[in-house]
Amino acid sequence: MAAEKILVVDDETNILEVLKIRLEAEGYAVTAVETAGEAIAKAREEFFNLAITDLKLGSADGLELMENLLLINPDLPVIILTAYGTIESAVQAVKKGAYSYLTKPFDHKELSLQIKNALEKQRLMSRIRELQTLVQDKYNITNIIGKSEKMKKVFEQIGQIAATDFTVYIYGESGTGKELVAKAIHCNSLRASQPFVAVNCGALPETLLESELFGHVKGAFTDAHQAKKGLFAQADKGTIFLDDISEAPPSLQIKLLRVLQEQEIRPVGSDASQKVDVRVIVATNKDLAKEVQEGRFREDLFYRIHVIPIDLPPLRERKEDIPLLADYFLKKYSQGLNKPIEGISPEALHKMMLYDWPGNVRELENKMEYAVAMCQKAVISPEDIFLGPAASSGEEQVKALEEARLEFEKEYLINLLKINKGHVARAAKMAKRQRSDIYYLIKKYNINPADYR
Ligand SMILES: Nc1ncnc2c1ncn2[C@@H]1O[C@H](COP(=O)(O)OP(=O)(O)OP(=O)(O)O)[C@@H](O)[C@H]1O
Ligand SMILES: [Mg+2]
Repeated sequence: MAAEKILVVDDETNILEVLKIRLEAEGYAVTAVETAGEAIAKAREEFFNLAITDLKLGSADGLELMENLLLINPDLPVIILTAYGTIESAVQAVKKGAYSYLTKPFDHKELSLQIKNALEKQRLMSRIRELQTLVQDKYNITNIIGKSEKMKKVFEQIGQIAATDFTVYIYGESGTGKELVAKAIHCNSLRASQPFVAVNCGALPETLLESELFGHVKGAFTDAHQAKKGLFAQADKGTIFLDDISEAPPSLQIKLLRVLQEQEIRPVGSDASQKVDVRVIVATNKDLAKEVQEGRFREDLFYRIHVIPIDLPPLRERKEDIPLLADYFLKKYSQGLNKPIEGISPEALHKMMLYDWPGNVRELENKMEYAVAMCQKAVISPEDIFLGPAASSGEEQVKALEEARLEFEKEYLINLLKINKGHVARAAKMAKRQRSDIYYLIKKYNINPADYR
């Protein structure tokens, strides 16, 4: 087994020297530095199994250093050395996540024992994390993974509001789990046995959106050969999830406002309204208040939907959730692909902790799926994790034009078939193409129109 790596930080050179010599004699690989700045730089460069730091580092604070180290590696055990053996500073250190503390002058045997225990604990931690995900899987129907303070707050909010009928407004960057949270609210509400209907307000053309949402009567427009029940009516007694609400065109915004106020809908072409009992959850990744200011979103509708706001934090602001999420997706995809992969190497995890995840949890999920597919060993190593260099330097990632074009064409085709319920002739008409063109694409992407009926 490779030597376990220990980072030692102390501004007293002679103590540092002694520690280094003794720990190396015990078989550890020791990196010794004198300042908090150097310690952080080292921790970013390589993975450590353990850190030992003095509580007072010149003008810098050992506790603060510890907090920064834990941001880089949340499972890192930290042993604090203190010359001021006051109970307060020790208690504070342990409260903030230190493994233990020792008062100087310390007994070397005692330190040696604590190191052994801490390393043992660190090995157990990764095992526990695995078990945690299994437990969550079993008892948490909603499968929202997270242990950060920010996510705990979200869980708490879900718990408090699920059973009410208040309109919920979910805000978060793309891939942060907005739809997952919407489903969790529904599943934990009294409406759980009733339908959950999701609509993307940006995915349908304006003309279709209205009849999709509210339905239409027979003969309401040229193609309306039969009356159709709208999504609001389908969601009756349940929950409707209006995704990308900022994309709703103005004509729809005013109708939505009326539906929310009156609790009734009017199908296109009908002059009679019908009552519906629907809980509304909306989501957006745009700053809707700004859309209001700039005149793109109705203010009255904004206030009507902005009742209970839930903010989903981007992944880069809750990096302590990365290990748990990574394990969760590892399990999901190694089972799916039937590959017996035991875990993620500390180095691979380290690489993921340093990345900013512009695509949030969805991106992490995709990268883990890919890593599982690529992995040829028992554990995921850094080489299996492809984090675009462009993305990590903060620039937009761009696909090859051809790849982007194929993806778009396929997605377009699927949407087209969905809207036209798998009816190829109608799809061709809507796309303004020959029927044979659509058949050609269907074959090219190996799609079965019957799947969309
Ligand atoms: N906390 C989480 N735990 C487990 N899986 C998650 C979590 N957050 C997101 N995911 C997964 O990440 C993917 C993206 O989540 P979701 O579709 O809910 O995001 P979104 O915010 O609606 O994104 P978009 O704005 O792009 O529609 C899904 O596969 C979802 O299951
Ligand atoms: Mg979504």
